[in-house]
Amino acid sequence: MARKLKYDIPGPDRRVSPDEVREKGWPALFAPDLAAPLRLAVEIGFGRGEFLLHLAESRPGLAHVGVEVSFKRVLKMARRLARTELGNVRLVEATGEEVVRDLLAEGSVQEFWINFPDPWPKKRHHRRRLVQPPLVARLADRLVPGGELHVATDHADYAEAIDEALAGEPRLENALAPERFLRDVPGRLPTAYELEWRREGRALHFWTYRRR
Ligand SMILES: C[S@@+](CC[C@H](N)C(=O)[O-])C[C@H]1O[C@@H](n2cnc3c(N)ncnc32)[C@H](O)[C@@H]1O
Repeated sequence: MARKLKYDIPGPDRRVSPDEVREKGWPALFAPDLAAPLRLAVEIGFGRGEFLLHLAESRPGLAHVGVEVSFKRVLKMARRLARTELGNVRLVEATGEEVVRDLLAEGSVQEFWINFPDPWPKKRHHRRRLVQPPLVARLADRLVPGGELHVATDHADYAEAIDEALAGEPRLENALAPERFLRDVPGRLPTAYELEWRREGRALHFWTYRRR
């Protein structure tokens, strides 16, 4: 039997709406937990949220923004966060494209993380893929100089497209050069999807690009 969703938030509710971000701005939404100027770290498509939680726990001074298009995943993560002492995370239910385009200022983000985005394997669905040159250009624009963009996928065909999009953005440089990407990043916490793909023995791809 399907379990019923629990809607109550057993502590501070860390969700913010796109309208609130537009009206108040990130510094007001992270206050009083973090003081401006903020150092923003943004994870797009956080899924079950274990990676975001780990990032936030290990870097208390950074302002972590979790972006997810799924209402259910945002709700579950909000419930999980409410049981912690973490004040350095805010969650937005929206698409990554919208958040990057409308809610993040130029040169304001220290790190972006995009872990195992949906691969949309059918050719006619490729235009739905998140990591494409126009988004990569916006991500580059939103990063501070020296800021990092981390992307991971298990999907070979998507990997080629991601590699091309990242290498083709002139404002980004490959921080892993001369490697194009890594198959494994020692010490990196595996995400929920990553654990599944590892169990299946799939080849993984991890990129780190840096804003010039
Ligand atoms: C394959 S799952 C990976 C989840 C998690 N990052 C992991 O590695 O376990 C992709 C996630 O991205 C979310 N997602 C899909 N399209 C999105 C978009 N345009 N913006 C933000 N999140 C998106 C989905 O709801 C899903 O949670």
